[in-house]
Amino acid sequence: MYQIYPLSFADSNGDGFGDLAGITGRLEYLSDTLGVDAVWLSPFYRSPMRDWGYDVSDHTDVDPLFGDLGDAEALIERAHELGLKVIVDYVINHTSDQHPWFQESASSRDDLRRDWYVWREGRDGGPPNNWLSIFGGPAWSFDETTGQWYRHTFLSSQPDLNWRNPDVAEAMLDVARFWMDVGVDGFRVDAAHHMMKDPRERDNPPAPQDHQTPWKPMGEYDDFLHLYDGGHQDVHEAHRIFRRVVDEYHRDALTVGEMHIFDLPQWASYYGEDLDEFSMPFNFHLMAADWDAPSVRAAVESVLWHVPAGAWTNWTLGNHDEMRLASRLPEGHERIAATLILTLQGTPFLYYGDELGMREARLTDRVSRDPWGLNVEGLSRDGSRTPMQWTPAPNAGFTSADAEPWLPVDDSYRAVNVETELADDGSLLNMYRRLLALRRESSALRLGSFLSHPGSTDELLAYRRESNDEAMTVALNFGDRSASIALGSGRVAFSSHDPTRSDEVDDEIELGPGEAVVISHP
Ligand code: NOJ
Repeated sequence: MYQIYPLSFADSNGDGFGDLAGITGRLEYLSDTLGVDAVWLSPFYRSPMRDWGYDVSDHTDVDPLFGDLGDAEALIERAHELGLKVIVDYVINHTSDQHPWFQESASSRDDLRRDWYVWREGRDGGPPNNWLSIFGGPAWSFDETTGQWYRHTFLSSQPDLNWRNPDVAEAMLDVARFWMDVGVDGFRVDAAHHMMKDPRERDNPPAPQDHQTPWKPMGEYDDFLHLYDGGHQDVHEAHRIFRRVVDEYHRDALTVGEMHIFDLPQWASYYGEDLDEFSMPFNFHLMAADWDAPSVRAAVESVLWHVPAGAWTNWTLGNHDEMRLASRLPEGHERIAATLILTLQGTPFLYYGDELGMREARLTDRVSRDPWGLNVEGLSRDGSRTPMQWTPAPNAGFTSADAEPWLPVDDSYRAVNVETELADDGSLLNMYRRLLALRRESSALRLGSFLSHPGSTDELLAYRRESNDEAMTVALNFGDRSASIALGSGRVAFSSHDPTRSDEVDDEIELGPGEAVVISHP
């Protein structure tokens, strides 16, 4: 699965913003050059773009920045011709405050849609409780016109929908039906566990002094334990209903729920007791783990241990909310990172440009675009959302040479781009292509069982993948020195550092620092 952030992938009309026709024109890069199976498109719906599309004002129309509905249909049709599946973002927790539903809801306390959002009286002249917005400040804003507070998990311009109102649930399920009719193959469900909160709306308790946040530091949001502002039990029933609707259309549709839950049993509960909720909850455990062989091994083993029988997981190291992996990980570790997620048991999710080694851009000379970064210092996501780097030409071939891209192209583009890397056998892009090709033809890597290799050390991580007719061992050297490991006899099917390597291995194999190999056993 390859994630496209539509604003930043390819601009077909020279306005500096990526668009759907731009993506359609680049689909062959994904299907043929790179060799992925599916794409996930971040939102391209009508939106005032306060949160760059995650604030939807019309779920069933395309924002003019991206084109129109015809462009969406053309994209999906072309993708299908090329054998690519397409999943789209489904933003369930909130809408834009510009959405007609919210405009009506906010118009008066008696409006028929008042209860479509969450309106409350204040407490002691302030907000109804102590819940905070993930993007900074209280999770409640006061509305002067009607004299009540409304709830927002994210920006004040992203009011929370009230999913306990059956009309809201039905209207949102119609949105899913609409996109299934258009032809999508599934959904990435945004902020999937946030939509149901404690019905009694109790205050969150303060976090103890030594409390470790499982994910990245998030400013004052970390001052509380988030016991009551998400994941109330009835969230599961809502997801079961959603899954039934999707399944009615397309039994093979994929639904991936975004949730930053690091308690594994709780995380796994989103598959559903009868595997009737998400096809898979998004797995961010590798992003939260320390980046060394024992910690990565522990994260992998514990995730796989918790995936319910008959279910399937996913792995990812990057997305539009995180610092670019090439900048987050130690210098030179892009290759073991790619090998890891492309050889683990589960569906790998790649983020556009990571296959080139795009780095976190430093955007000091321009106004920040990301509202989170504007609200909370250090949390801007702009640096990982810069334009895709296609060529060494001005603007990296993302848009016309004289246009101003919505975020500046990172300076690295002269060397780090598709065209230049394709011409270099040893490039990261060509390494991804080799690995994806190997995965495609290997039943062990695609579908096989996973077994940790007992020879793993503090520097080396190794594991075996095995199907009925094939066995492969993967070894990754996280250390900064060469190291050897006995993997049994076989042939080198892949080396991250040497595209020509295919020698026979007796037993022991030496890996250079940051090197990854895959051995195919007879
Ligand atoms: C999660 C999305 O990944 C993020 O980009 C967005 O800002 C929030 N949800 C709000 O929709």
